[in-house]
Amino acid sequence: AVRHPAALPGLPRRLPGPRHRARARRGRPAPRHARMRPEDVGLSSDMPFFRNRDAPATEGTPAITHTTIYKSEKFSMVLFFLPTNAVIPLHNHPGMTVFNKLLIGSMHAKSYDWADPDDPPNESDASSADGQLRLAQLVVDDVFTAPCDTSVLFPTAGGNMHRFRAVAPSAFLDILGPPYSIEEDRDCTYYTDIPYSEHHMTSNELIGNEQEGRRLAWLKEVEMPRDLKMCSVRYGGPPISGR
Ligand SMILES: [Fe+2]
Repeated sequence: AVRHPAALPGLPRRLPGPRHRARARRGRPAPRHARMRPEDVGLSSDMPFFRNRDAPATEGTPAITHTTIYKSEKFSMVLFFLPTNAVIPLHNHPGMTVFNKLLIGSMHAKSYDWADPDDPPNESDASSADGQLRLAQLVVDDVFTAPCDTSVLFPTAGGNMHRFRAVAPSAFLDILGPPYSIEEDRDCTYYTDIPYSEHHMTSNELIGNEQEGRRLAWLKEVEMPRDLKMCSVRYGGPPISGR
């Protein structure tokens, strides 16, 4: 069963689906996270996090700042600040549901789900000898500009593996349920994506039409990228009620 952060006031107890969206269109108030504004978490676009203080563009991607607004065993709320050109590399959210709300700015998002979520590659399988490549399906490849809808990803749908690149100074809120936890085997894994056409595995050979229709790519696990600069700051916005 999918676990989700039902304890947060204002979040829907059921995950939003087509019926929910239809209700919203008929005039019911949207859930609180959907109506959330930057000011609700103390944000304004002239905050120093958005400036590329560290280095000119020639010295790698700009540093990303994040702050944890709330964390419990069930879920966490984390704000991320990205100067222009900052990149959060392709990573996953194992067994997690994530509400992602862009509050300020404009970001390019690219996301994938496993093409075959129920069939993880077998380590001893000859077909996966080429460095643990696993077939994934493109879900989103688009630029989002605030204000925009909350996007939701699930353990095996909605784009569980994703990458963000800020095309303007940006801030977004992530609500992760349950949160990352090394003890509970929910650590973050990073990937690189390789075009489908660059690798051929006999057991996974697909005819051109299917490949085109499903927009496939190979994902390969990588170490956390060395040029990823993440700094954590204390949350300084309005307090979040524990009720
Ligand atoms: Fe993420």
